Amino acid sequence: MTKIFIFDTTLRDGEQSPGVNLNQLEKMEIAKQLERYGVDRMEVGFPASSKGDFNSVKMIADTIKNSSVTGLARAVKSDIDIAWDALKGAEEPCLHIFIATSPIHMTYKLKMTPEQVVNQAVEMVTYAKQKFPKVQWSAEDASRSDLPFLAQIVERVIDAGASVINIPDTVGYSTPEEYGKIFKYLTENVPNIDQVHLSCHCHNDLGLATANTLAAIENGATQVEGTINGIGERAGNVALEEVAVALKIREDFFQYKTGLNLVETKRTSDLVAHLTGMHVQANKAIVGRNAFAHESGIHQDGVLKHAETYEIITPEMVGVTSNTLFLGKHSGRHAFRDKIVELGYELSEEKVNEAFETFKELTDNKKEVTDDDIFTILMELQTDTTAVDKYELSMFQVQYSSMNIPTATVSLRTPSGEYVQTAKSGQGSVEALYGALEELVSEEPEVSDYQLSSVGRGTDALAEARVQLHINEQLVSGRGSAQDVIEASASAYLNAVNRYIIQKTTKATQKIN
Ligand code: KIV
Ligand code: ZN
Repeated sequence: MTKIFIFDTTLRDGEQSPGVNLNQLEKMEIAKQLERYGVDRMEVGFPASSKGDFNSVKMIADTIKNSSVTGLARAVKSDIDIAWDALKGAEEPCLHIFIATSPIHMTYKLKMTPEQVVNQAVEMVTYAKQKFPKVQWSAEDASRSDLPFLAQIVERVIDAGASVINIPDTVGYSTPEEYGKIFKYLTENVPNIDQVHLSCHCHNDLGLATANTLAAIENGATQVEGTINGIGERAGNVALEEVAVALKIREDFFQYKTGLNLVETKRTSDLVAHLTGMHVQANKAIVGRNAFAHESGIHQDGVLKHAETYEIITPEMVGVTSNTLFLGKHSGRHAFRDKIVELGYELSEEKVNEAFETFKELTDNKKEVTDDDIFTILMELQTDTTAVDKYELSMFQVQYSSMNIPTATVSLRTPSGEYVQTAKSGQGSVEALYGALEELVSEEPEVSDYQLSSVGRGTDALAEARVQLHINEQLVSGRGSAQDVIEASASAYLNAVNRYIIQKTTKATQKIN
């Protein structure tokens, strides 16, 4: 069976999802889990886009040993040089260069002629090959490009040294038949195509990403690019777990295999969902909460008599287990450490101890500590260690009764070390609290989204607040958890403002495209 290589771009294309901004430690945690999942390649950022991206790419490149670590670059020398500095410590440094090839992108975005685009692509692949052992080249908006032109540029960049050619459906416009035909055309019309791997990269704007990806594979693609849970810009990228499980379950039809360790699927999905705050819809294929739930009587009866009547995938195959063991007051450090590993985290002894202290405090107030509670504790540990002065909550008080207007008094320590305090009223407690916080921070945030959920069941459950703020035309998200909803809300707000401050300090202004 032919192997299909899995190229994960959760930490690059996925991280471009609106409102997702992972810090370095969170990215590292995801990268380590992707390595356990068995992805062949992982694209972990765009080093030239910001100092923050550069640092995370470097940290991951220096750490991950069993997957090839890749960074993105535009077809310009400075991007390539910066990417090399970030990636040179990797086991197999790999660069992903892209330039657009569709008439609409060349004319309006690049303002370049097709000939100029070919020259730029060839020159930059040649330049990158002097540093990188492996160069992947992407024809951005390939699916809306002229096929003979696409074949011509692909041939030239292969001659220049590219060893993987990626054909993105950048705007999710293609249909399976059309997309498959592009791969067939390139296979039949590019004389040196047998020297490279052909790669597909599908966006999901029309909900066709998985179908398009499978069509590409059937027509010659040997690498699939996508993200965990399908996160990404707009409607997202293809969900890798969907492609991998489709290939496995319909091995009889497709006759391809991947090197993924499928039993790590659920753990990887959970980690990405928790850290990005992009929750998976209940009916999402493979990893949704209901993916294995049989509700109707007829189905339940069938499954009880013979599971395969209605179940084509076993939950165990993708790591979905029903025998979750809760931890409690009497659980020791050992059981706690095992649970951390089970959830996909790798922590230093010091961090395990820190988390264990928080866990013990929680068990004073909560009888059963669930996996989600522990995820929440672990996420609180992933605070950015960047040496940047941030806001700290020093005191808050909220007065609420059915008789009075809710009022919040908040006192903060600002990044410059000053203490500031104010009081505000509002229609409800959170509005009063956020009004006070808004007055105290100088970044002028505007709340664009606020969500409060309980972590698990019961009145003693932890509250988790997630907030999205608009600051200087940028969307930043924050999260906070506590047993009290107001405290969780305050800490989510400050978490978002602090993430913005860290980003501002570590980010240059460049954006992709
Ligand atoms: O969708 C796309 O075209 C991309 C490129 C940068 C490869 O993500
Ligand atoms: Zn993309």
